[in-house]
This record gives sequence, C-alpha cells and structure tokens, in this order.
Amino acid sequence: MKKKLTTSEFTRLSSFITRNYGIKLPFKKKILLENRLQKRLRELDINSFDMYIKHLFSDVGLQNELVHMIDSISTNKTGFFREKQHFDFFKDEVLPAFYYSKRKNDVFRVWSAGCSSGEEAYTLAFLLSEFKSNFSDFNFSITATDISTKMLSTAKNGIYPEEQIVDVPVHMKQKYLLKSKDRQKRSVRIVPELRNIIRFEQFNLMRKEYTAFDSFDVIFCKNVLIYFEKQTQYEVLKRFTGKLRKNGFLFLGLSESILSFDLPFNKVAPSVYLKAGN
Ligand SMILES: C[S@@+](CC[C@H](N)C(=O)[O-])C[C@H]1O[C@@H](n2cnc3c(N)ncnc32)[C@H](O)[C@@H]1O
Repeated sequence: MKKKLTTSEFTRLSSFITRNYGIKLPFKKKILLENRLQKRLRELDINSFDMYIKHLFSDVGLQNELVHMIDSISTNKTGFFREKQHFDFFKDEVLPAFYYSKRKNDVFRVWSAGCSSGEEAYTLAFLLSEFKSNFSDFNFSITATDISTKMLSTAKNGIYPEEQIVDVPVHMKQKYLLKSKDRQKRSVRIVPELRNIIRFEQFNLMRKEYTAFDSFDVIFCKNVLIYFEKQTQYEVLKRFTGKLRKNGFLFLGLSESILSFDLPFNKVAPSVYLKAGN
C-alpha cells in the first residue's frame, strides 16, 4: 500500500536535500517526493516515512541510504547532442580558438558537470576525437561528474538503447558505437577507447571547494542549476569561474542564464559565456 508523507516529514527531507545537494523542493513537490521514495521503502521493507527518515539519518543510513535517496530524487533527463547548437558552437568556435592560440604542450580540458548517464560527455568525446583526427598535435581530457552513483554507473558502462542514438551523425555511429552482438537487445556500446578516456567521478557541486580538479578550458553545466535556488546557483557559478582558465567558456542549458549575476563573463551565444577580465 502507498505510504503517506506528512508535511513535517516532507519539510525535514526537503530542507536536508536543498541544504546538502542544492536541489530545491518547494511544497508543491511533496507528492513527487512521496512517489519517488515509495520504491525505496518497498525495497527496504520499511512501513512508514517516519521509519525511513530514522533509518536515513542513522549512522548506517547516512553511509548507505543517502546515495539511493539522491538517485531517486534527481532528474536525469539527457541525450546525445542535446541542444545541438551548443555542440556546433563548441566544434566550430571553441575548438579552433583553443587550437590556434595554444602553446605546444597545452591540453584542452573539458568538464561535464552534472553529466547524468554520460551522453553529454560522450558527445564531447566524439567531437574531440574528430578534431584530433584532423590535428594530431591536439590533446584533450574529459572529466564528467554527477551526484548520482546510479547514473555514473550507466555512464561508465556506456551502453544505450538504439532509439537514443538517433541524433548521433552516421559517420560517428560507425566510428564510435558498437552494435550489440545479440540483435534482440537493440543496444549500442561506446567504443572502449572513448569509455576509457573519460574520467567519471561522483562529485557534489555543493562542495565548498572544487580543489579536486585542475582548471578547465570549458565547463558544461547544462540543465543542472535550474533545479537549484538562486543563491546556490550564484555560489556554484562563482566556483566555476575560479576553475575556468583564461579565455574559458561556460555552457549552461538553453533555458538558463547568468545574466542576473555579477560575474566576469561575456555572453557569446545563447547560454554560452566567455570568461572575461584575464
Ligand atoms: C537534467 S540532468 C542534466 C544532464 C546533462 N547535463 C544534460 O543537459 O543533458 C541534471 C543532472 O544534475 C545532477 N545533479 C543534481 N544535483 C547535483 C549536485 N548537487 N551535484 C552534482 N550533480 C547534481 C543530477 O543527478 C542529474 O544527473
């Protein structure tokens, strides 16, 4: 039977989630949270949200349950070449700008922050590999992070249903995707060369410091901040600013913008920003 989440239980959970993960959960999301956590209660054979909360905040729960709770509440919608105009800009403007101004041993570094199940990072890997096949002295690295361990495990596996690859250009499909031998499965797998190139890692953007990473030439953080409160968005964006190199680019989702914040960026395309003032 479906378990009910009381208002005070909702408040306890939602304030914890917002404080620790940035994701805002206004009261109108109560039913959504209730529905998303039902499965966890069933899996744990727990009879009420009161018991679930006690378990979650126990020492064992904080060690083991937290990751499952985050997996159940995060919104993970993504896709290959999602918001394609950004990948066109990346290929046609960002890569040549870097390449023609780089010093001999510079490595192009990109971060897909909030990478979900990996499609964004693999899209970047396709484009970077294509660029490298034209310019052999071009070297790159890709870091891809998310809060959800479930999504990261899908990303590392690199297996996707065939219907999800419709937006991948044919020549890239041929080069970078392997069809499953079992044709019943109708799935593809990213070639090992690209799977191994990407550093997939769990990382909470709410961390106060991003010292785990060196600086980047480009940060993609698309369709992530939209779920955060304004002040949290600003703090995350400030930390991104510190992690971007001179002439670095920040890509947000097409419905996102930094224009209301006092940050050193110039807008160069819809939801694409170039770090200024170096
Ligand atoms: C809607 S997906 C966006 C995926 C991809 N960037 C795209 O635009 O297609 C948002 C992702 O942000 C992740 N996320 C949410 N809060 C986060 C946090 N505090 N730290 C890191 N990742 C977070 C979610 O787990 C989810 O996978």
